[in-house]
Amino acid sequence: MAARPLPDMLYAASEMFQDLDMPQPTAFGLPSDQGGKDLGIFLPIANGGWILSSTTPAIDGSYEHNRRVALLAEAIGLDFIMSMAKFRGYGGVTEHWRSSLDSLVLMSALAAQTERVKIWTTFHTLLQNPAVAAKMIATLDQVSHGRAGLNVVPGAYRGEFEQMGAWPCDLDHDQRYDLSTEWVRAVKRLWTEPSVTQHGRYFTLDDCQSEPKPVQKPRPFLVAAGMSERGMRFTVEETDAIFIGGRDDDELREVGLRAKAMARAAGRALRTYALLILVIEDSDAAADATLARFRTGFDEEAFCGMLRSYGMIDAEACRENAFTARARSGIMAPHAAGTPETITRRMIQLMEDAALDGMMLIFPDYEAGLRRFGACILPPLRAHFTHVGGAS
Ligand SMILES: Cc1cc2nc3c(=O)[nH]c(=O)nc-3n(C[C@H](O)[C@H](O)[C@H](O)COP(=O)(O)O)c2cc1C
Repeated sequence: MAARPLPDMLYAASEMFQDLDMPQPTAFGLPSDQGGKDLGIFLPIANGGWILSSTTPAIDGSYEHNRRVALLAEAIGLDFIMSMAKFRGYGGVTEHWRSSLDSLVLMSALAAQTERVKIWTTFHTLLQNPAVAAKMIATLDQVSHGRAGLNVVPGAYRGEFEQMGAWPCDLDHDQRYDLSTEWVRAVKRLWTEPSVTQHGRYFTLDDCQSEPKPVQKPRPFLVAAGMSERGMRFTVEETDAIFIGGRDDDELREVGLRAKAMARAAGRALRTYALLILVIEDSDAAADATLARFRTGFDEEAFCGMLRSYGMIDAEACRENAFTARARSGIMAPHAAGTPETITRRMIQLMEDAALDGMMLIFPDYEAGLRRFGACILPPLRAHFTHVGGAS
């Protein structure tokens, strides 16, 4: 691919990736343990999915739907399923994300229904005491026979927490990450030490005991999606993987390399994952037509509700991140649209250009999309990445 204007530091960092003494990722039974690509799905836990539109296939966010989707994801050979934690929707004609199951309860049920796929749930550090969370994830790890993972989110949507009297008005965005840092360090210690005493600014543990320990050693998988400077630092220093986003391919690559360089500087290995919505049709023109149809139903009011939720209309942050910038088109994540062959090429290009370790996939229609993905896209993808050197 053509050279891009990256800061010198990033080039230097990417050169350093070649070093033999580069930190190796902790093994979690994922393809990326050995250089392969981790592929999973963002479960449709909330109504409306990830397209702010009234002209998409209906997604009701029900347990039954999530159960069918999870079983299908496992059957076609995906590596993980993950659900978000959400407590308030964005409004609009679609009442987007008005209804959302509890992430942990859903994942625990799905852990009992599946056998192989990794089970990643989400916790808001604002809402759970770390000792409660440590025990819940240890329980999920036992239910899933060692497949549990945790997406750690600080909480950014003020209305979501204010409605339950749980918004800390005295903490700003970066301080919420300070709180998350204390939280996740406490959880890690509780998973591995017989007794934890930790006196922090936000949490106090005194001879705190948490049993059973998780099944996985050294501990369950951790992931986060810090996009800001502070959020990325938190993710790099405390977790095993980061969800990255970009307004375009160049920014995705820049963000991914920056995260890897930061991790390398901290003596850690970090996996980078991107989100991707797949619109699979029989021809590229049909896929473009489907996208155009989705755009005609764009739910402007839900989009405003989303911006407000991120503090971009009437509250603190007033800055846009890659996620909200993308959502302006009605589609809340990068997408690939076309025939299975077009999508396979696009996924390979994105993963190679941005040196990604995997992707979390979203479908407008999960069941139809997963069937087609499993039949026509996953086999050539696995073959490609096995061929180029990583276990797929
Ligand atoms: C893949 C992905 C999953 C996320 N899951 C949640 C979630 O379940 N709940 C939530 O409140 N925020 C979630 N977020 C938001 C992030 O935690 C984070 O706040 C956001 O990416 C902005 O980055 P910043 O906090 O560094 O500003 C998610 C973001 C991404 C990209």
